Amino acid sequence: MIKKLGQKKINFSNWASNRQSKKNNLQEMYGFDASECISTNTEFHFMFSQSRPLDLIELEQLLQSVGWSRRPIRRVKKALDNSLLKVGLWQHDPKFPRLIGFARCTGDGVLYATVWDVAIHPVYQGFGLGKELMKYVLHSLKEKRIEKVVLFADPGVVAFYKSQGWQLEPKGSRCAFWYAN
Ligand SMILES: CC(C)(COP(=O)(O)OP(=O)(O)OC[C@H]1O[C@@H](n2cnc3c(N)ncnc32)[C@H](O)[C@@H]1OP(=O)(O)O)[C@@H](O)C(=O)NCCC(=O)NCCS
Repeated sequence: MIKKLGQKKINFSNWASNRQSKKNNLQEMYGFDASECISTNTEFHFMFSQSRPLDLIELEQLLQSVGWSRRPIRRVKKALDNSLLKVGLWQHDPKFPRLIGFARCTGDGVLYATVWDVAIHPVYQGFGLGKELMKYVLHSLKEKRIEKVVLFADPGVVAFYKSQGWQLEPKGSRCAFWYAN
């Protein structure tokens, strides 16, 4: 479920008595585009943000935590700069929010987009955050009126995407790859 800050629907009633000042603090921390991410983890609160700056080392640590290999930070920075959409998912803490999820998209900004680097830190997996992250990504792409979205799923997560309505490209017959080395 996506709740935009600044909209009337938002419900931070359990967070604090002073809702308005809490909301202002959250906007200061995560930006005006931030929204709460609902999960079954009742211990923490989670926030989506596209505008909170990403610490590249923290991001690489997150991606390594799910078993992906290290990438040169400078190239990662360029890739992020060239991305259409970058979504950070933060475990909220008033002093030290922790980046625990991430996804980004590349594309032409009008017709097509490709989703990359979808990850939830292992400690936070299984609480519905990955599903909400994908919902958030698709919602954001829809807002940009992107018509077609593709992604390349590792074999172990095909079922994760299928259960959310993604269709498998039939028999690999329409997919082609070229690798530089
Ligand atoms: C894949 C990933 C993002 C899922 O995140 P998550 O927060 O654990 O997933 P959720 O808790 O939102 O799970 C949502 C649903 O998908 C199911 N699911 C989660 N991971 C799954 C998997 N690997 N295979 C099949 N189903 C899966 C859950 O059981 C849950 O089902 P339910 O709605 O019936 O209860 C996370 O496991 C991850 O970061 N994995 C490593 C990185 C990776 O492989 N990314 C994908 C690159 S293509």
